[in-house]
Amino acid sequence: MSLRRAKITAVSHHLPERRVTNTDLAKFVDTSDEWIFNRTGIRERRMVDKGVAASDLGASAAKKVLEKRGIDASEVDLIVFATVTPDMFFPSSACLVQQKIGASKAWGFDLSGACSGFLYALATGTQFIQTGAHQKVLVIGADVMTSIINFEDRATCVLFGDGAGAVLLEPAEDGEKGILDFILRSDGSGGQFLYMPAGGSLNPSSVETVQKKMHYVHQDGKNVFKFAVRGMAEISQEILDKNQINIKDIKLYIPHQANMRIIKAAIDRMGLDESQVAINIDRYANTTAATIPICLSEAAESKRIKKNDYVLLASFGAGFTWGSILLRWENEELY
Ligand code: UT7
Repeated sequence: MSLRRAKITAVSHHLPERRVTNTDLAKFVDTSDEWIFNRTGIRERRMVDKGVAASDLGASAAKKVLEKRGIDASEVDLIVFATVTPDMFFPSSACLVQQKIGASKAWGFDLSGACSGFLYALATGTQFIQTGAHQKVLVIGADVMTSIINFEDRATCVLFGDGAGAVLLEPAEDGEKGILDFILRSDGSGGQFLYMPAGGSLNPSSVETVQKKMHYVHQDGKNVFKFAVRGMAEISQEILDKNQINIKDIKLYIPHQANMRIIKAAIDRMGLDESQVAINIDRYANTTAATIPICLSEAAESKRIKKNDYVLLASFGAGFTWGSILLRWENEELY
């Protein structure tokens, strides 16, 4: 017996209004628009106002998804919320979103996959549709990275921004392909290169951890860079080979948006043309779990992807975690 297929029936995103340009950052940290843009491709990023958390961004994106699909929140069965910046350790941000959007019949959980969080969550949600357990699954990627970066550290504070994206997964119709395949990986030996040392059970928050700035993102950028290029390019090629799809048949490649140089190096390796690649790092920087659904949402809204187009998603991030998801876009009339 073959399992039924899952497809994305709606996608949307939400970004805070406040824009912080490279020049704004250069006012309080020793950097410049030229350095940031040349080394990363970032021009500006969005930042929440005080008191706005990941569940707020996620709930706004989720509400827009339900509006687009024209269904009531009470129809949602499950909420999978990918983030490294949950509102709190518990309750989960999925529960907070459930309440904020009024998804009265849904259960949900948070998933920690860093920059690969959305792909991990999309693959997870897909299983609940494929098995027949659920009919409507909301998958959200949301992060408030500005809550965990040290604005005195120029090596990290220029890289990240805040945002959220969300999709609704439902069973595909006969003849539709929807989510075709996923390959997901992790390698814990990479954990030392990108992490937040304090606030968990290893180093509970204390005056000392705060004084030592252990509650912020720590990164060995060069090492992450090296692994990211290879990891994203290889796992993208692997899923194409496995499904016997030629790279030229990919309408849109959506890589994680951490650094324009990583994206360029990965697509050069794969032989992709820049016209096939979604890029918004210049406007939003690295929003961790949110980058891929935001790109997908912008591509759908601008009609850059249409029914029957093949779309390839790929990510690399802390953990290390990385992965690729191949899908065929099945929507037309909604966008
Ligand atoms: O999504 C999670 C995954 N994360 C990533 O994928 C990030 C991967 N890594 C990167 O994107 C890059 O390594 C960075 C953008 C983080 C850094 O770029 P880089 O080309 O590797 O620069 P670097 O760290 O080697 O620094 C080069 C120089 C250093 O100065 P010296 O030692 O050469 O005098 C830094 O101190 O640039 C300096 N620098 C800066 N200068 C101005 C570092 N940050 C800044 C800054 N402004 N913001």
